[in-house]
Amino acid sequence: MKVLVIGGGGREHALCWRLSRSASVSQVFVTPGNPGCAAVATPAATPDNTPQGYLAAARAAAADLTVVGPEAPLVDGVVDAFRREGRLIFGPTQAAARLEGSKIFAKNFMDRAGIPTAAYVTADDPETAIQALSQFQGPLVIKADGLAAGKGVVIVEDPNEAEAVIRAMFAGALVGAAGARVVLEEFLEGEEISFIGLSDGERVVALEPSQDHKRIADNDEGPNTGGMGAYSDSRLLDGDMRQQVMDTVMQPVIDQFQREGTPFSGFLYAGLMMTAAGPKVLEYNVRLGDPETQALLHRIEGDFGALLHTAAAGRINPAHLAFRQDPSICVVLAAAGYPGKVRSGDLIHGLSEAEQEGAAVFHAGTKSTPEGVVTSGGRVLGVTHSGATLPEAIENVYRAVEHIHFDGMQVRRDIGAKGLKRWPLTAGS
Ligand code: AMP
Ligand code: GLY
Repeated sequence: MKVLVIGGGGREHALCWRLSRSASVSQVFVTPGNPGCAAVATPAATPDNTPQGYLAAARAAAADLTVVGPEAPLVDGVVDAFRREGRLIFGPTQAAARLEGSKIFAKNFMDRAGIPTAAYVTADDPETAIQALSQFQGPLVIKADGLAAGKGVVIVEDPNEAEAVIRAMFAGALVGAAGARVVLEEFLEGEEISFIGLSDGERVVALEPSQDHKRIADNDEGPNTGGMGAYSDSRLLDGDMRQQVMDTVMQPVIDQFQREGTPFSGFLYAGLMMTAAGPKVLEYNVRLGDPETQALLHRIEGDFGALLHTAAAGRINPAHLAFRQDPSICVVLAAAGYPGKVRSGDLIHGLSEAEQEGAAVFHAGTKSTPEGVVTSGGRVLGVTHSGATLPEAIENVYRAVEHIHFDGMQVRRDIGAKGLKRWPLTAGS
């Protein structure tokens, strides 16, 4: 089977890499891809980044299956366009993708489905939002309704601080039009876990749990980013807790969409806060996480292509899914200036040396030039490795990271360290 991957980041490089190793996959195409993808996938040209453009790429590649990485094409309706033409694609329709595309839609949807989440108020204008502040005590969270590339969430210490943020958001000063409506919500305390499943519209099958590191600097300091590293370790959630998450957070989404006549198929990502009162949903994404995917796909076994094909065709076969026990880690190397204004064009050294350490080096913001591969985006690379134990995985990944250099490179040195704290060195860890 020929598979087309849509997207060009680290997540999509990891998808291409894993699909290229699937027994059922004869060739992987990618659009637009990146210099790293080229080692495992054939670039497929698209006239433009519209659903029709992607359809043209899939036709030209004679793709038997298309897999969508990022949210934007899903929100634009790429799945609807493929289905109208009878072409197999894995991802949610435009109607179902609103779960990520609009935070207000997501919160109201969670209400209708009875899914545990932070208490909230929505507002279409600044006065309504400011009036609603009296309902909150202590810290609260202000979220832009629309897609804002991870920049639409502001946490304030108390309601007094909130007014300025609300005014700035409605004025378009923070995230433009995405802030034309907002959600105010209660601040939740606990540990964040990323929980991702695959659905065929009816059933949902879980991947292993993982944990992202969203702040730019060690010890979760500094501004939020798209994610500076992630690890996946089966101990993040025990069997009972996984069942609870499936029963209260994952399956209810699929059931509710079915009831509402817009079935959800595709990857379903729940950003969870593990609170004292149980897991609560911070957000849903309608796609795989980045960099969680890089860590997860390093651990995954079985025929990933066949798994996605059965899910896209309407009856997922979990027999194609298996995970190695070994924990895995992805460490992101980011460019100078990230997450603010990023500098591009810095020459990257040591890529093949890192790979010789056994690491998979997934490209995100890179560009090929006659001088070599240079930086070309905020998150540049995701160095990914695993190990028999979490400490070994950490050691392996950072040994590979040591080989890579570019001017202004930013890297967190503590990816996975929370796990070390949680599970102090004991036999079997
Ligand atoms: P979101 O895009 O909604 O996942 O928010 C981005 C980040 O903001 C999350 O990963 C959390 O770290 C933080 N966050 C969002 N909502 C809340 C909340 N209700 N309580 C505490 N932290 C939150
Ligand atoms: N790593 C978080 C996300 O992909 O949204």
